[in-house]
Amino acid sequence: MSLKILQFGATGQLAREMLVRAGPGVEITALSRVEVDLTNPDAIARAIGEAGETDLVLNAAAYTAVDKAEAEPDVAYAVNAWAPAAMAKACQARGLPLLHISTDMVFSGDKAGPYLETDAPAPLHVYGASKLVGEQAVLSACDRALVMRVSWLFSAYGQNFLQMMLRLAKTQPVLKVVADQRACPTASGDLAAFILSQGERLAKAPAGAREWGLLHVVNSGVASRYEMAQAIFTQTQPEGPPAMEPVPTSAFPTPARRALNAVLDTSRMQEVFSLQLRPWQEALEDVVAELMAQKETA
Ligand SMILES: NC(=O)c1ccc[n+]([C@@H]2O[C@H](COP(=O)([O-])OP(=O)(O)OC[C@H]3O[C@@H](n4cnc5c(N)ncnc54)[C@H](OP(=O)(O)O)[C@@H]3O)[C@@H](O)[C@H]2O)c1
Repeated sequence: MSLKILQFGATGQLAREMLVRAGPGVEITALSRVEVDLTNPDAIARAIGEAGETDLVLNAAAYTAVDKAEAEPDVAYAVNAWAPAAMAKACQARGLPLLHISTDMVFSGDKAGPYLETDAPAPLHVYGASKLVGEQAVLSACDRALVMRVSWLFSAYGQNFLQMMLRLAKTQPVLKVVADQRACPTASGDLAAFILSQGERLAKAPAGAREWGLLHVVNSGVASRYEMAQAIFTQTQPEGPPAMEPVPTSAFPTPARRALNAVLDTSRMQEVFSLQLRPWQEALEDVVAELMAQKETA
């Protein structure tokens, strides 16, 4: 018997990794924007209400343009807050579990150490605030909901820091990279592998089980953007990395202010699921190898 996942999102980093990594025991029905536009809550309710046999619903889609959200708060809230709220309501009505993804950007970055799930959120911008409302709506409307906060996703697909560094290295004589923002870089593939490995357990977990609630899911280890860039170039350009200069966040003013500390504590994941994701550098090696293989076949 296979695990049947109804997934919102088909083209994003996480959505694609879910589709690539699903083994023979998993059937994913991925709904793209063309099938369900997340700004339409009725379409969301219909998609869940009318789906065939389903074990889990996963929301792998979001409005992820952090700076653009400052100018488009209505769309950001529609996709990041009201859409997950509609998913949670429809899942509750059908007795289905909902897996939802959130972000370190619900925090202000003012804490001295890593953030726990129990720490008070205080987002600095529209994107973070819209994701926070989404988390709260999901957890209050569905009693079998897992909200996974993740950070700095990277993969061989889509837009992310890894791809941006490789692109800029081709055109900039000296790469200026922010050195005072710190987080736990996370491979979208490792996040997908975590979700898939826990799928059957989550499909069976009853309301009130300790699996549900907020969970920080990030690769092990912490890095600044600058340190991550160094690792990227050590792995992709061993013959000689580009010239780089560490700069403060203030060197790149952005519409949405970035938190300096976005490090997430994963003790709860270790306690509840008895596992820890591997160090981000190891995951980066795999993603770089995948990128190289893509280049060779292109
Ligand atoms: N990327 C990061 O560094 C990061 C960090 C922390 C948390 N997260 C969270 O992790 C999750 C996955 O992020 P990701 O990087 O995989 O996202 P992504 O690559 O930016 O993809 C976003 C997905 O959402 C879809 N989408 C956006 N608006 C939509 C709409 N109105 N209707 C239907 N689909 C819509 C996009 O579809 P189209 O292709 O049609 O636009 C795309 O498939 C999100 O919840 C995000 O908030 C990401």
